[in-house]
Amino acid sequence: MEKLNIVIIGSGGHSKVVRDIISSKEDYCVKAVLDDKYDQLTSNGDIYTGPISSAQHIISLYEGIKFIIAIGNNEIRQSIVSKLGLSHESYISLVHETAVISPSAFVGSGTVIMANAVVQADAIIGRYTIINTSAIIEHDNCIGDYVHIAPRATLTGDVKVKHGCMIGAGATIIPGLSIGERSVIGAGSTVIHSIPSDCTAVGIPAKVINKNKRSMDS
Ligand SMILES: CC(C)(COP(=O)(O)OP(=O)(O)OC[C@H]1O[C@@H](n2cnc3c(N)ncnc32)[C@H](O)[C@@H]1OP(=O)(O)O)[C@@H](O)C(=O)NCCC(=O)NCCS
Repeated sequence: MEKLNIVIIGSGGHSKVVRDIISSKEDYCVKAVLDDKYDQLTSNGDIYTGPISSAQHIISLYEGIKFIIAIGNNEIRQSIVSKLGLSHESYISLVHETAVISPSAFVGSGTVIMANAVVQADAIIGRYTIINTSAIIEHDNCIGDYVHIAPRATLTGDVKVKHGCMIGAGATIIPGLSIGERSVIGAGSTVIHSIPSDCTAVGIPAKVINKNKRSMDS
């Protein structure tokens, strides 16, 4: 069977989980892990490691190779996509075998859906987004690009999460609400009112503690 060759960008904790998903798929094969913590491109015979600037060289070695950016921080993911300048078709979307995705849901390229996540009917998930372990994305959700929905977050029906948001682990968002661009919802928070852009909101019920703050992942 001809395998689909893949480059993983990033080598931290999130990357380990992404690599496990790829390893579980018989028809996928990791050819390179690129991260700027590596000074130069080297190979152990099976896999190359090297700085992100080696991407074009790897592309020249493996025709049709695909990319996935395995970095949890939304802003860093976005800046790497922009620096690489590849087409959206150069990225794969990865779905763990235990995730449940409705046939009517849409998942954009470069997006990763982790173990036991559920994406229900007519949900739309943008590009380069992370739906982390056991997150629930209910029907008719619309999740933007470069979003991170952390483990066990629950987005009930008709929720909109705009570009660049971080929804913390175990947070809950009640139906029909909207989270504005780049906003951060604290771990364990319950959101009962829509949240504007560039805010951090925490607690039960979630209250805005910090306006005009950039999105972060920890
Ligand atoms: C919301 C969050 C980003 C805030 O981080 P921060 O900007 O560094 O804020 P601080 O830690 O300085 O906390 C500011 C205030 O908010 C409170 N707070 C922070 N996070 C909170 C949370 N999740 N729930 C309730 N209150 C919270 C703090 O107690 C503090 O209150 P105080 O001013 O009364 O002392 C962070 O706490 C968080 O929850 N991150 C999500 C992490 C996550 O789920 N990662 C998933 C990785 S896979």
